[in-house]
Amino acid sequence: MKILVTGGAGFIGGNYALTMTKAHPEDTYVVLDALTYAGNLETLASIMNEPNFKFVKGNICDRELVDQLFAEEQFDYVINFAAETHVDRSVEDPGIFLTTNILGVQTLMDACRKYGVKRYHQVSTDEVYGDLPLDRPDLLFTEETPIHTSSPYSASKAAADLLVLAYHRTYGLDVTISRCSNNYGPYHFPEKLIPLMISRALADESLPVYGDGANVRDWLYVTDHCTAIDLIVRNGRSGEVYNIGGHNEKTNLEVVKTILKALGKPESLIHFVKDRPGHDLRYAMDPTKIETELGWKPEYTFDTGIQKTIEWYLENREWWEHIIKGEYQNYYAEMYKDRN
Ligand code: NAD
Ligand code: DAU
Repeated sequence: MKILVTGGAGFIGGNYALTMTKAHPEDTYVVLDALTYAGNLETLASIMNEPNFKFVKGNICDRELVDQLFAEEQFDYVINFAAETHVDRSVEDPGIFLTTNILGVQTLMDACRKYGVKRYHQVSTDEVYGDLPLDRPDLLFTEETPIHTSSPYSASKAAADLLVLAYHRTYGLDVTISRCSNNYGPYHFPEKLIPLMISRALADESLPVYGDGANVRDWLYVTDHCTAIDLIVRNGRSGEVYNIGGHNEKTNLEVVKTILKALGKPESLIHFVKDRPGHDLRYAMDPTKIETELGWKPEYTFDTGIQKTIEWYLENREWWEHIIKGEYQNYYAEMYKDRN
């Protein structure tokens, strides 16, 4: 099998490529990535020269390049991780989110139709369901929960999901969609909550918690997301949506305090700052469908996953220090300047 992994130099796509090139040595994985600020070839360094791996730099919105790649490679499966992914950036500048997250998906699916593939898989997110109230822990997102988005990021991902289902119904394209909860683990860009807090705590810098820190996210260790996608791509039913999550709900404050405790740093580093506009209150996934239909089970709990993640950040300082020493410093100063 030949598998196109778009966005494979990012956090989840990178973990997917690292895991799957080893799990399926008989398959070839081609990563297509534009190397935006979030893409990092250092993530892929250990597999760059593997015989079943190839990297191509390019934009999923570039129709000519995408067509040429599909014509040359004749992919069996296409898995689309490529996206603009940071909610705060989408609040500041929505345009690129609409271009990449919607039009990029159209470009890929048009190529799938033109050149023929066994399946197109869209990596989506729980954010398409909007949020749940904090005082109803009994409520979870199922695949039937209506789409109800809050941010330009989640609206762009929801639009893509609808387009994917439209290509299935109208053109008969074989598609699957996965909607996962918040991921964490190695190679996570330090603009996101967990790596941001680890890197700042290690430098004894203040930790900016939005609002009162009571918002809840449902955390999943990244390789558990990767194994779920692999199962859906190979065994999932065409035209279906699968929710992915491991029942690991935590408030942001709980997450930050867990990190501080593990690093032996004081809670006085916590600094409550102005809230994110439109901030979703709570996400919580019901993964019954993927568990019962495909037999998926996560390997990590939050306790085991966060420990492994913190160890990785301690042992791989070079990877994230390269990032935070560069352009990232301007990003942090700009993004957080009005939050104090
Ligand atoms: P990321 O921001 O770490 O990586 C995105 C990657 O896509 C980068 O390598 C970037 O260079 C690449 N990219 C961006 N625009 C591109 C374009 N136009 N053409 C080609 N490549 C482009 O993102 P992530 O956290 O790894 O998320 C991957 C996917 O998973 C996204 O679709 C996201 O919506 C979804 N998702 C993320 C989470 C999470 O918690 N991070 C949870 C559920 C779903
Ligand atoms: O749920 C899946 C989504 O998870 C993915 O689709 C997104 O691509 C991914 O970025 C993530 O979105 P969130 O907005 O939940 O992640 P983020 O790490 O930005 O924030 C997690 C929570 O922490 C959220 O409630 C906001 C809060 N937060 C975040 C940052 C960056 C803070 O309190 N302070 C911060 O500095």
